[in-house]
Amino acid sequence: MTRAIFVSNRLPVTVGTRRGVFNVAPSTGGLATGLSGPHALGGGTWIGWPGPTWDLSPSDRARLDARLAELRLAPVELSRAEVERYYEGWANGLLWPLFHSLLDQAPIEVEGWEDYQRVNQRFAQETARRVQPGDSVWIHDYQLLLVPGLLRELVPGARIGFFLHIPFPATPILRALPHREELLRGLLGADLVGFHTPSYARHFASALQRILGLEVGVDRVRVGRRDVRISSFPMGVDAREFEATATKPAVIARAKEIRGGPEQRLLVGIDRLDYTKGIRRRLASYEKLLETRHDLHGRVHLVQVAVPSRSSVRAYREVKSQVDALVGRIQGRFSTPTWTPIRYVHRGLARDEIVALYLAADVLVVTPVRDGMNLVAKEFAASRPDEDGVLVLSEFAGAASELAGAVLVNPYDVEGTAKGIAAALDMPREERHERMRLLRARVASADVHGWARKFLAALAATEPVREERLDFDDPADVARAITASPPQRTALLLDYDGTLVDFTARPEDARPDAELLELLARLAVAPGLFVHLVSGRPREDLEQWFGRLPVALHAEHGLWARPRGTRAWSRRGLASLPSGDAIAAILEDFAARTPGAFVERKTSVLAWHWRSADPAYGERQSSELRQHLAELFSNVPVEVLVGDHVVEVRPHGVHKGLAAAEARVEHGEGARLVGFGDDRTDEDLFAALGPGDVAVHVGPRASSATLRLANAAAARAALVALLRGG
Ligand code: G6P
Repeated sequence: MTRAIFVSNRLPVTVGTRRGVFNVAPSTGGLATGLSGPHALGGGTWIGWPGPTWDLSPSDRARLDARLAELRLAPVELSRAEVERYYEGWANGLLWPLFHSLLDQAPIEVEGWEDYQRVNQRFAQETARRVQPGDSVWIHDYQLLLVPGLLRELVPGARIGFFLHIPFPATPILRALPHREELLRGLLGADLVGFHTPSYARHFASALQRILGLEVGVDRVRVGRRDVRISSFPMGVDAREFEATATKPAVIARAKEIRGGPEQRLLVGIDRLDYTKGIRRRLASYEKLLETRHDLHGRVHLVQVAVPSRSSVRAYREVKSQVDALVGRIQGRFSTPTWTPIRYVHRGLARDEIVALYLAADVLVVTPVRDGMNLVAKEFAASRPDEDGVLVLSEFAGAASELAGAVLVNPYDVEGTAKGIAAALDMPREERHERMRLLRARVASADVHGWARKFLAALAATEPVREERLDFDDPADVARAITASPPQRTALLLDYDGTLVDFTARPEDARPDAELLELLARLAVAPGLFVHLVSGRPREDLEQWFGRLPVALHAEHGLWARPRGTRAWSRRGLASLPSGDAIAAILEDFAARTPGAFVERKTSVLAWHWRSADPAYGERQSSELRQHLAELFSNVPVEVLVGDHVVEVRPHGVHKGLAAAEARVEHGEGARLVGFGDDRTDEDLFAALGPGDVAVHVGPRASSATLRLANAAAARAALVALLRGG
């Protein structure tokens, strides 16, 4: 097994001061709780923030360093301002509510994007310093979304995994996030991106498609020469350890003490005090229960443990005062001199005390309005070897998709939740056992160690990126490949859209800029170089833009050619598209049904463009259209071909390879042909090249070309380098 380096915002221990005395305490939250076991067993380093260290005396700092080293923890320290802006502002103020689909909890304005980037860079550098060949790096959670990409830049060959511990929102919500593109790209630095549930993984894949415009497969996406795998790994708990704690005599005795007499009924809620946890609605449901079930008065208790959390973030302070007020109201309304319906604990409790609560509970109420997974629900099941107790679980917790056996409730339906709790309290013994057995079987078979093992095994199985293999070739290397053992003549066959200029929303916007025109002019007169522009565009565009340059023009995928030094176009195929009217009618019909799509009519080529349509819908419609055309016109000599966001129909035998064949005749056998292209139509050109020729693919798609450049800017850089002599 390879050594794993864990990277997360918070280390599993946090420094603090208790009664003025320095102490190092275990961190709260699912991540620290869940990963501590795998880290203890794994043998690698864990990189993260140890908590506020700025006020430590030199001797406390020395003690801290020694303690961290002992635990194999490597600190990334944050300044007070960074904590305010990166952690409280960006990560917890903005990303947290947004990823939980609770947009109204986000402040109106959030500062700290620069700090978020800078701190992520520091985490990446600290990791880069420690990573050794063969290691797996496992980065965690929303505070570090940019780290995979930054680390990939620093250590291109590293094996990088990323796991998100919170939900991944649907695309319409993610769109609200400033810098969403950069954050998505940051994640794509990983080889494997993991989520708690398949539905979060689906949301991520759809964001890559809809926001970044990538082509996403079932469980992977191609980025340059790498595949990034996307998968779900539902996190578990250390089931055996909880069970062991639950069987300790002291814990059993404590549970009895908490429960009280046999008539007593105990509901338990345990959460970080966070607005995602649905504590307010839970209290409202409990109030409803008390209103309707007088028989429970005097003998039911809700123990609500709310562990203080992120109290410097405003939304957290607000939820705290609302919870305080609600608890006060319910107590005031229902308490008697001998009974209070709620026992509210606003602090963290020791593990044994928590397990005693699990063990004492008739019902554990886990009702978040949104939760990535929720490990409390799983800890509860693991802590009940007596196979009793009922779990009431929100359908908005990731755990809901896994935990058959729970009573599922919708926390937004306060009355329904009250009914769910009542049903759990009234549940006959047999049914309670049956459900708890189901819960326990799942929690025992999918524990946190298995989770970590599965993730790391999947990461190890990703195809390694070799140290020397960067995603794209360097433009200077491409120039050198073109000029290697220089022939007398070199013909450059250059595609236009997507190759020399970036794709634009409307084709007419992609005019050549002055820099490109100058570059082409210089290439055109360079000794031994001949330039051919080979495009799918109509003659008019090419003539208008490049008519005055001493270059050869090839329009409509090679249907039309205008040799260098002439003004006359000649046609290499049929004058019009066979069955053109019928085909045009179908394209128009599809365009009318696909918002954003439109039809372009050229001499004998028809094009159905969908670059401005919704990516997923456009893609579906384009494959439907393709199939439809293939069926209807199978006996007609036309070809249907799929380019970048376009379906084109052209007469059989017209393709960009014609331009290559002609260039071969024009420049002679000793010449080297060099093709540059970005989409499917350029593959015809590449296919017509010979053994000494060179094909250069631009962009992230699959291609037969052996050389690859990242984008139009890199293609231009390669041509500039070529002018300088490779
Ligand atoms: C959740 C998050 C973790 C975070 C934990 C505690 O479990 O997913 O990333 O560490 O809460 O939050 P805190 O802000 O105290 O680190």
